[in-house]
Order: sequence, then structure tokens, then C-alpha cells
Amino acid sequence: MSRHSIRAYQLRQVDKDTLDKIMEAAINAPSAMNKQPWDVRVVRNADLLAKLKDAGANFFDAPTLIIVACDSENHYAPFDAGLFSQTLMLSAESFGLGTVALGSVPNALNKPESEELLKELAFAPNYTVVIGIALGYKNQNPAAKPRDKSKVKYVE
Ligand SMILES: Cc1cc2nc3c(=O)[nH]c(=O)nc-3n(C[C@H](O)[C@H](O)[C@H](O)COP(=O)(O)O)c2cc1C
Repeated sequence: MSRHSIRAYQLRQVDKDTLDKIMEAAINAPSAMNKQPWDVRVVRNADLLAKLKDAGANFFDAPTLIIVACDSENHYAPFDAGLFSQTLMLSAESFGLGTVALGSVPNALNKPESEELLKELAFAPNYTVVIGIALGYKNQNPAAKPRDKSKVKYVE
């Protein structure tokens, strides 16, 4: 309940130990047949971040950008990548860090002009970028967005 999308970040970088713990939690997400069909880049290099921004990936200048690709030939992979991503975001929240899932990242990368950038990221063959996740220290404290409780119905 305390996780909300963060769209303003402090400049200071997240320390490597904390990042390692968050990634450890994320890779412990469940996946169909435990195939772990994700391939993930944790981008902290300023030059590469600038190139991603130029390509149209709006990550709100977070100091760390996580890019999640998944196996295009595995029917469950997008679901598994979603579980990976939510586990990552909840773990980050438990360390007081902010995140936001970013459809703008696959939109920016899955286009012909981004071929070189994709090569640089070197995802496994037949893997497709499905989501980006900005990560960093929060520079805002947004209120919860409304949710529609009627989407869940009890059958008793
Ligand atoms: C698949 C997906 C793609 C999203 N893409 C973006 C995005 O490109 N830019 C953005 O600012 N927020 C993006 N969001 C964040 C949603 O807007 C946000 O989760 C939603 O409004 C609910 O707000 P909350 O996360 O604060 O609860 C995305 C979320 C998901 C799950």
C-alpha cells in the first residue's frame, strides 16, 4: 500500500549492496516451470542513460534504469516478467526507494532506429524488451491513485 509510482528522483545513486538485495528478491519471483524467462540490464552508466533518453525512454532522470526483456517464445514469459518487476518494485519500496514501471522503454527500444542501442544492451537471442523500471531515491511523495474495488468479486 505504500508503493506508488515515483516520477521525481534525487541525483544520488543507489548503493550497490542495496541494489544487489533488490535484484536477489526479484529473481526469486515465481515463474512458470521456474524457467526464469527474463534477461535484465541494470543501467547506471551515464552515457548509456543519455542515449536511452535520446531514443525516447522517459525514465524521469532516475540514476538507475532497469530494462527487462523476456523470452518471445515462452507463452508465460510476459506474465513472469511482470511478477519479476512487481517483486523488484516492492523490494525497492521496502528499502525506501522509489520506482515506476515504464512502457516508454520498450516503446523506445522496439523500433528500427534503436537497433544499435539494443545491440549494446545485448539481450539473449529471441528476447524482447517488455518493460523498463526507473529506480532511485524519491524526490516526491505522491498520494495513492484511486482503485476500482468492483474489479474483485467474491464468489461464495
Ligand atoms: C506496464 C506499465 C507501463 C507503464 N508505463 C508508464 C510510463 O511509460 N510512464 C509513466 O509515467 N508511468 C507508467 N506506468 C505507471 C502507471 O501509470 C501507474 O502504475 C498507475 O498509474 C498506478 O499508479 P501507482 O503505480 O502510483 O499505483 C506504467 C505502469 C505499468 C504497469
